[in-house]
Amino acid sequence: MIRIDGKKVSTDLKNELKTQVGELRAKVNCVPGLTVIIVGEDPASQVYVRNKAKSCKETGMNSTVIELPAETSQDELLERIDALNNDPDVHGILVQQPLPSHIEEYAVTMAIDPSKDVDGFHPENVGQMVLGNLDKCFISCTPYGILELLKRYEIETKGKHCVVVGRSNIVGKPMANLMLQKLRETNCTVTVCHSATRNMEELTRQADILVAAIGRANFITKDMVKPGAVVIDVGINRIDDASRKSGYRLVGDVDFDEVSPISSAITPVPGGVGPMTIAMLLHNTLQSFMRAHN
Ligand code: GUN
Repeated sequence: MIRIDGKKVSTDLKNELKTQVGELRAKVNCVPGLTVIIVGEDPASQVYVRNKAKSCKETGMNSTVIELPAETSQDELLERIDALNNDPDVHGILVQQPLPSHIEEYAVTMAIDPSKDVDGFHPENVGQMVLGNLDKCFISCTPYGILELLKRYEIETKGKHCVVVGRSNIVGKPMANLMLQKLRETNCTVTVCHSATRNMEELTRQADILVAAIGRANFITKDMVKPGAVVIDVGINRIDDASRKSGYRLVGDVDFDEVSPISSAITPVPGGVGPMTIAMLLHNTLQSFMRAHN
């Protein structure tokens, strides 16, 4: 069994980005800039945003975090976004989700200039991705990170059956689409399962590559996995653990202890897909910079 080390691959990727950013600094005397907006004080989001800013700085890119109070109105937020759309030093804009309930996520997604939408959430980016125009869009960071892991671990995908569990706009839907594509040579046969799927186990057991993105702790058990499958765990779930100082620990959507011995390769949680999401966000920010300067 291969333990897919997302932490190591993300570090390699960030080092590659750091070299590229250093070359840009020497050549054109400017560097990519990422601005992250967080509205309210959701503790998990605060951790994610802090990690994004830290990684951004480590690669030599400019990082700005705008922290807005939970009462911020939608109009105020949209004005902030508009100012960033018009700021030539900002190449990537990310508004951390979830947002307070009085702010409509769709309005925020639509407000971000697609050429700075490094999350890849804007319909223009989603549309180009589905059409296979991968050089004309930003690919949503978590699925993109998974593609990169499969590539760097030389996991054959062509003709394989990929089963994606979960249909979110952020992970499940783009993941299924990317695995289907001919262009980046993933070339899988794809099945998507979700909460209304009947006989889920029957389907997941057919997977050569199983992607779990449901957001339920230890949901995928041994009985649901074909021996020898490649298992990608996107889940980050907090479960109570009194032995920890924090009072909780993180587990994935896959029961790692049960499933890892029968898999051919598997991503752990933490240290699998999670660190890759940030690395791909930075990759997208550099890509945005390069497109703006060409
Ligand atoms: N919240 C959890 N994951 C993400 C992400 O990838 N992007 C944004 N904007 N918010 C998130």
